[in-house]
Amino acid sequence: MVGMAIVALASALPNLAAHSRPSVGAQATSEKGAIARQNALLLGAAWYPEQWPESRWEEDLRLMEAAHITFARVGEFAWSRMEPSEGKFDFDWLERAINMAAQHHVAIVLGTPTAAPPAWLTQKYPETLRIDPDGRRAEHGNRQQFSFTNPRYLDFCRQVASEMAKRFGHNPNVIGWQIDNEYAEPSYDDYTKQLFQQWLKAKYGTLESLNDHWITAYWSQTYDNWSEIPLGDGPNNPGLRLEWMRFISHSWVEYQQNQIGAIRPLADKRQFITTNLMGFFEGFDQYVVSRGLDLASWDDYVGEGQVNPDMNGLTHDLNRGLKHKNFWVMETQPGAVNWAPTNNFLNRGEARAMAWQAVGHGADAVEYWQWRSALNGQEEYHGTLLGADGTPVPFYSEVKEIGNDFAKIGDDFRGTTPISQVALLYSYDSRWAIDFQRHTVKYDQLGLLRDYYGALRKLAQSVDVVNPYSDLDAYKLVVAPDLNVMPEDLARHLLDYVRQGGNLVLGPRSGMKDQYNALLTQRQPGFLVDALGGRVEQYYALLKDVPLSGEWGKGDATIWAEQLGATNPGTQVLLRYGASNGWIDGQPAVLTHTYGKGRITYIGAILDGSLMAKAANWMVRESGVTPAFGPVPDGIYVSRREGAGKTIFVVINFTREERHVNLPHAMRALLAGREETSLDLPAYGVEVFLEH
Ligand code: GLA
Repeated sequence: MVGMAIVALASALPNLAAHSRPSVGAQATSEKGAIARQNALLLGAAWYPEQWPESRWEEDLRLMEAAHITFARVGEFAWSRMEPSEGKFDFDWLERAINMAAQHHVAIVLGTPTAAPPAWLTQKYPETLRIDPDGRRAEHGNRQQFSFTNPRYLDFCRQVASEMAKRFGHNPNVIGWQIDNEYAEPSYDDYTKQLFQQWLKAKYGTLESLNDHWITAYWSQTYDNWSEIPLGDGPNNPGLRLEWMRFISHSWVEYQQNQIGAIRPLADKRQFITTNLMGFFEGFDQYVVSRGLDLASWDDYVGEGQVNPDMNGLTHDLNRGLKHKNFWVMETQPGAVNWAPTNNFLNRGEARAMAWQAVGHGADAVEYWQWRSALNGQEEYHGTLLGADGTPVPFYSEVKEIGNDFAKIGDDFRGTTPISQVALLYSYDSRWAIDFQRHTVKYDQLGLLRDYYGALRKLAQSVDVVNPYSDLDAYKLVVAPDLNVMPEDLARHLLDYVRQGGNLVLGPRSGMKDQYNALLTQRQPGFLVDALGGRVEQYYALLKDVPLSGEWGKGDATIWAEQLGATNPGTQVLLRYGASNGWIDGQPAVLTHTYGKGRITYIGAILDGSLMAKAANWMVRESGVTPAFGPVPDGIYVSRREGAGKTIFVVINFTREERHVNLPHAMRALLAGREETSLDLPAYGVEVFLEH
């Protein structure tokens, strides 16, 4: 009985199947027999059955089903219910909740509860508690109070994950796992320090090598013993700090792998494993942590204000780039959060526009956090779908509309994903390296990334965000806004791309550091100087904008300016600085040079908005990038997904006024259910077009 409803839900993962494990949907169907098809886009809610009497669950699930909510994430903070005392597990309640959900066609993503250890655990084993940078031990009463390297804590985590997997690894209504919840806080305890020192030893082999790469002759930093090396927080050597961030990433991988290793052997292959990441959170390298996962997922919160479509789109693309495939939005806000300076509510229709934007960028699921507030606890004021009285709040109707949309046309997205001609390179090493030594407080890497992204996306209408070491061959244009850490192997990888016909554009501060965060002995862009036929002579943090002019027109350099010099007669100067500090007056700001079958361009300044737009125009023209859809009015946001012989466009009006959109040719409007050549989209309106 339960199994019946469940199989339909297991087959609700075709897009995941299409991009990672081809047999997911098919396998579940053939094992249990085909039941009603579920649509390919999933809508979810974070549900906490442990906070409510069981007599209430039926009504919760009925209301979910009525809104076409097809999955719930459960369990991620319920450790004290799962293991009420040491070694005594109780999963009966959870099994009843999961099976009841199946009867309402609500599939389950199971969260391991390790972000919220029970009080008995941390009381009895205080060494499992995290130590803050100031040396204070965390206490019970909040969450994330654990030390991520503590062996005893890892044992407890492995055990609870393994007990969960024994019980639910073959439950047909469990479609996937979320490990922990939003990894965030490292621990500064002595054991972690020892692990860090051992990790450095394994990496560098000898102290001579470490001293050499970190240039510890500076300020008498020389280490004679591994145990002398401190944790890398605060105003420390940049080499040490970069390694500390890499060690944190490595430790989260170990932390995660500890649980994956417990679950995987006990779980059906069709059950995916993910964790919920946090956008551009820079506390660890998300590329590294994602490697062990089947699926990337992230928590998409606006906080105060309204959604910024470019920033949100950029963050979706970061997440798609983590595994180079479709991803999930594991949490998003039902109107308002409770942690922003002002927790204003999203405008009516804005959440639906956001849900469709996520899908346009490759999300196969969107989940609202949370279904209903606990009646007490830190998040009483957070947005929900139900009120404290257990009946729908007005926002529920918008979620229901999304549910109707997904139910109606979700299937058309089966097997599709965004495909881009343009890639932006984003690197944690570079992000950290610049942030450790910004040189001007105004240097905002995310702002710069967003500026490049916004200008390029406007023209190309589809952009990937990828690790610089990714395979770049498929891209007509690759842009690195500030690839500061560029060791020789990375430079070689980029040169290969250019040699074979690629167009590479580097922004300021690129090619300055090696993998130890030491300055390269070449001028910027380091190992690419010869290929560029030019270099950075000197760099300047700006107090005032500097005029720029040349082939891209006129505008200003803001915040940062590098004086460039051509070293090859074939190098072309595209922009020059006007009058400024005397040093850069009349000097080159942008150089370009052909190399092999391709071209390298170096932009030494942060460009103002209009010049950025012109630069993007030039890049797109020069590399033959074509728009995914075609011209659209300002405020209209287009995404494209392709695959399984289909091309689908998601068209969204992110403004608060109606907009008229002309289609490049007649297409089927899937939501309206008719053929269109143009349409009027109301404020926050959405239409989805199938090309034929
Ligand atoms: C995070 C957490 C959730 C919840 C929300 C509130 O994303 O994962 O548990 O606290 O924030 O916005």
